[in-house]
Amino acid sequence: EEVIFSGIQPTGIPHIGNYLGAIKHWVAMQEKPATIYYSIVDMHSVTIPKDKSVLQNHILDMTACLLACGIDPKRSVLFQQSDVLEHSALSWLLGCQVPLNQLRKLPQWKEKTENLKHGGYLGVFSYPVLQTADILLYKTTHVPAGEDQAVHLELTNMVASLFNNFYGVFFPKVSLFSDRASARIRNLRDPTVKMSKSKGGKHTRIELTDTDDQIVNSVKKALTDFTSEVTYDPVNRPGVANLIEIHSGFTGLSTDEICQNSKQLDTGEYKLVVADAVIGAIRPIRDEYLRLRSDEGHLKDILRLGHEKAQETASRNWNEIRQLVGMTL
Ligand code: TYM
Repeated sequence: EEVIFSGIQPTGIPHIGNYLGAIKHWVAMQEKPATIYYSIVDMHSVTIPKDKSVLQNHILDMTACLLACGIDPKRSVLFQQSDVLEHSALSWLLGCQVPLNQLRKLPQWKEKTENLKHGGYLGVFSYPVLQTADILLYKTTHVPAGEDQAVHLELTNMVASLFNNFYGVFFPKVSLFSDRASARIRNLRDPTVKMSKSKGGKHTRIELTDTDDQIVNSVKKALTDFTSEVTYDPVNRPGVANLIEIHSGFTGLSTDEICQNSKQLDTGEYKLVVADAVIGAIRPIRDEYLRLRSDEGHLKDILRLGHEKAQETASRNWNEIRQLVGMTL
């Protein structure tokens, strides 16, 4: 049986990288005959502490955004990670078998720790172990996510096989589901790095609730190069390739088709075509978001329902894990 799990940090309004790399696939996968869990991973987001009301708002923003994108709570279990305590419990247990050197290699740790005199935070270091627990707790088989999550999936499979070898086979193998063209949408002002929710200022990303004008502006300001034709060359022309990938992600046209259709355009004119495609796709999401966000009671009800369903599986699996380990008498 297929079990799908994925998570997103409540660190602000999701951007079009989150949408094309992950959320779009989350929505599409609801057509499959699978059990599906989508989690707002608030425990991961507190590795960078913030004000209480900011976190609360971000959780509600994310819930409204995911619903506006088409996550259907009747089809998918949409829940808040910290509601299910078993994530932390399993994280501890799995962490007991994770070699430190494995974690030191991961890009996120290196990035966030570089300039810290005290050597970095435990939560940032063990972040990938908690992610492993999220995934394995539901005996997940498929994780739809962007390319940046591939290293975490490798760790997950490694940890699962260490557990299975020692305690007996329990966790299935997990595969990453990602779409090559949109698995890594880049920062609009600096196409050498990925588009990010937390890093980079104005016009580096397009958020799902941006206005039409903001979208046009950000696309117009996107860094390209001095060649005027529209060609797809991610290595030598990363800025233009990024626009083509965004365009492709929102229209379903292939990168070849897009270049064919854009033969008469220079990159400046092409930007307006891209902006139109983004606006067309985002406008209904933005409108639905604003409608949903005004009813917090409804959003909380959906998370409560999601918690109940996730909890049922989590409790059952955690109990079996405790038995395998010898924690139940
Ligand atoms: P997060 O919150 O950073 O991102 C959520 C999802 O969006 C994808 N993504 C992108 N895809 C394409 N281009 C981009 N520029 C881009 N930026 C982000 C991410 O790959 C992700 O799929 N560690 C995870 C959260 C997490 C998780 C999990 C994911 C916790 N537990 C279990 C999957 C399974 C994260 O920080 O995602």
